[in-house]
Amino acid sequence: MNPRDNERLTDVSPGTPMHALCSRYWLPAGLASDLPEPDGAPIRVRLLGRNLVAFRDSDGQVGMLDELCPHRRASLMLGQVRRGTIECIYHGWRFSVDGSIVEMPNCDDERLKQRYRANAYPVKEAGGFLWVYLGPKDAMPEFPMHEWMALPERNRHPRIIASRSNFVQVMEGLLDTTHLGVLHQDSLPRADGTVKVVNNTTRPASRFTAVSNSAKVPVVEVEERSFGIYAAAIREGMADGEAVRDVRITAYVAPFTIYVANGHVTLMIVPVDTETTHLYIVYWDPEKPFAEEPYRSDIERGTGTLPEVAERWGFSRETLGAPGTMSMANHWGQDRARMASGESFSGLELFAMEDAACTSSMGTVSDRQEMLVPADLAIVRMRRFLLAAADAVARGEAPPAFADAEAARHVGAVHTQIAPGEDWREAVAATATTTEEA
Ligand code: FES
Ligand SMILES: [Fe+2]
Repeated sequence: MNPRDNERLTDVSPGTPMHALCSRYWLPAGLASDLPEPDGAPIRVRLLGRNLVAFRDSDGQVGMLDELCPHRRASLMLGQVRRGTIECIYHGWRFSVDGSIVEMPNCDDERLKQRYRANAYPVKEAGGFLWVYLGPKDAMPEFPMHEWMALPERNRHPRIIASRSNFVQVMEGLLDTTHLGVLHQDSLPRADGTVKVVNNTTRPASRFTAVSNSAKVPVVEVEERSFGIYAAAIREGMADGEAVRDVRITAYVAPFTIYVANGHVTLMIVPVDTETTHLYIVYWDPEKPFAEEPYRSDIERGTGTLPEVAERWGFSRETLGAPGTMSMANHWGQDRARMASGESFSGLELFAMEDAACTSSMGTVSDRQEMLVPADLAIVRMRRFLLAAADAVARGEAPPAFADAEAARHVGAVHTQIAPGEDWREAVAATATTTEEA
């Protein structure tokens, strides 16, 4: 990729085409539980290279304002949340969740109080997350209600994983089908029919996992839709003694949502700034209470998102980049003795660490001076879609969107097996997230 396109693709700082594109969507802005109670301490939210302050007022309403006070630019992170407002501790100006000024103790000109206001952004709480819209008010899209958001709290388990990598790089890793059988080979089904999960525990493998990862060269096909792309990785393989065509279809929804065919999981790869990404993961199931045990720990062990593990490794929002956490400086804890003995292929502690190590070893923003092969098609098409979307917005056109609310509700990944001559596109014609794995 040429350096100019690479920069247009990855730079999300204010004033860039990618910033303008991403601003046209509702952005996940943390866990709703980050603001547990009315009049609690404010929190900083950083998105697209901008700093905001979020607070929950006395009525429980969440407000998000630019972090710096519009008066003389002191940080509202130092502010006091009370009496239905956030109060700047410098000169005592008080702001409501909508940015209007309730009190200006150092000014008795009522007209200035009416004229001035803080930049306040529309906020929603849905699916266990906070959401904010940073774009032009007259272009605000309808809030996208997806299937998982409407579920009761006990049926979904939201997690946030932090990484020091550009968001496009993280998305590429999630669309990259051929690394599974190499990098993550220790997690593949073993002769006894189990797969290894974090902390050296195991769980039974499904027949789907076995075929998906068996052949290292899949045929990758891509279908473009109004909202993004569907990418299918098609592998010929054997399951229970029969020849099958295994199809793993991933959905990419611009600008940063990916549905992978691995149980019910929605991934939102949110750019905090050009070099930092928060990966929002929602595990959900219409029937099973994923927020409760034993599901909760089981999911977290299988994916390396156990809170204490994420903390220790530096994958939590709080510990990202903290001393002693995993980075290129300590080679991500790679254990060469275990590699040499054949005990471990990567020498790294399973899935999450393997991905984090490879993705960030490219540098926080990869230069994309690559030698690509046909199996990389999904990655190439996602980049192209994203760049075209940014160009469209720069020309004054609308950003990619679903045709209607119904289409948005039904987008998802599919993992299935089809007969020769069958077209995988039929499987996504009326997509719901379906798979045998959970
Ligand atoms: S800087 Fe905030 S009130 Fe003056
Ligand atoms: Fe991976």
